[in-house]
Amino acid sequence: MAKIKTLYFCQKCGAQSAKWIGRCPSCGEWNTYVEEVVEKENNQSTGSWKPPTASPAAKTSAKPRPIGEIHYEEEARIDTHDGELNRVLGGGLVPGSLVLIGGEPGIGKSTLMLQIAMSLRQLKVLYISGEESEQQIKMRAERLGDQHPGCYILTETNTQNIFRQIDQLQPNVVVVDSIQTLQSGLVESGAGSVSQVRECTAELLKYAKETGVPVLLIGHITKDGSIAGPKILEHMVDTVLQFEGDRHLSYRILRTIKNRFGSTSELGIYEMQGAGLRQVSNPSEILLSQRTETLSGIAIGATLEGNRPLLVEVQALVSPATYGTPQRSSTGFDSKRLQMLLAVLEKRSGLRLGQHDVFLNIAGGLRLEDPALDLAVCAAVVSSLNDIPLSGETCLAAEVGLSGEIRAVSRLDQRLSESEKLGFQEMYISQFNARGLDLGRFGIRVHPVGRLDEVLTGLF
Ligand code: TYD
Ligand code: MG
Repeated sequence: MAKIKTLYFCQKCGAQSAKWIGRCPSCGEWNTYVEEVVEKENNQSTGSWKPPTASPAAKTSAKPRPIGEIHYEEEARIDTHDGELNRVLGGGLVPGSLVLIGGEPGIGKSTLMLQIAMSLRQLKVLYISGEESEQQIKMRAERLGDQHPGCYILTETNTQNIFRQIDQLQPNVVVVDSIQTLQSGLVESGAGSVSQVRECTAELLKYAKETGVPVLLIGHITKDGSIAGPKILEHMVDTVLQFEGDRHLSYRILRTIKNRFGSTSELGIYEMQGAGLRQVSNPSEILLSQRTETLSGIAIGATLEGNRPLLVEVQALVSPATYGTPQRSSTGFDSKRLQMLLAVLEKRSGLRLGQHDVFLNIAGGLRLEDPALDLAVCAAVVSSLNDIPLSGETCLAAEVGLSGEIRAVSRLDQRLSESEKLGFQEMYISQFNARGLDLGRFGIRVHPVGRLDEVLTGLF
């Protein structure tokens, strides 16, 4: 093997050293130094897209130009035939972009990518897998339905071999499942190690940029929530999408974490079915459709996930605690926030929750962080405590402050329009949101409120 020059880099702050050090002298973090290749020889085997051989000094150097004189052409995006994926990508796949799709094992990343590979009918797609055999992929493709004859499967992990095949096939789109299984001959460490992941991503990035072929890269998320250990990949790729959801429930959310070609507040929703992932274009209707009669402990919150308004069912169960310390447990909602709201209800509205267990659940397996759900959480808790159901035609959207004040939320008009569209008759909002908003415009009765007490008297 050719001689390679390596250095050790701190994965936290980027400091470098010739030797491995336990504690970074620059940022003080422990165990962050990782060996990386800085100079490699013998990289001639990676295909026809080799970097220009001229030395940097021989390149024509760039000159500064006034920004007004710079022109560009909007590059046509590739339609993935998947409305949700197009949305999170900011309108389609950009040629030459490197997109990372991260997610926990078993969430459906391979399924989604294979589905996309099958739907790109006019293009030649190369699906590279280091995780499954050809037969397994074929079986999965059969479950997914129609197959695309222009989709090629390659089960290979060595990047030099992969690029040789790419050279021959000349695909229009490349899918790699997953970056953790790839191995470059230029780095000695094993597949999945930081330097391998980094080197393989760099090779794919160079390929994408030089040929204009978009590369979709799957990455497993490690336990601490970051992709491939330290967040080394996020800054290298153009777009980072995260696929999340509860494995045992059917809804999946595709979230944009970073996007050089669009907004990061986009969100795609899918449902995992027997025959693959189905796009959910109107999520509220599904999340709310299971209501048959009005039950106590249920409140509807008008939340906003990314740019999409979503009406979700907040379910609470409040029951007398039988064993010592009462339990507080929440699914899909921050448990610290729940504790805070319970304390506000106790202190500001005089409810006696100290001797009660409180369980909270966001229906549909979604995990939400929108503070506008606060009021719906409070309403669901009070409804369960008093065993009085709320009207099924009422929804709520406001943040609750520590002194029981009702605070304004962002983009209320979108939330109001969605609630109206789904047939809600009444909506509780903050009085601060009501200012400057033409409430008569909406066909829904709006109650602007200032304090939590007012909401509770209005509701019960
Ligand atoms: P997979 O795409 O293999 O997950 P990942 O690549 O993220 O590890 O799929 C995960 C699960 O999806 C798997 O446990 C089975 C389920 N699944 C379905 O429910 N329906 C289907 O049509 C397919 C292909 C998979
Ligand atoms: Mg997989």
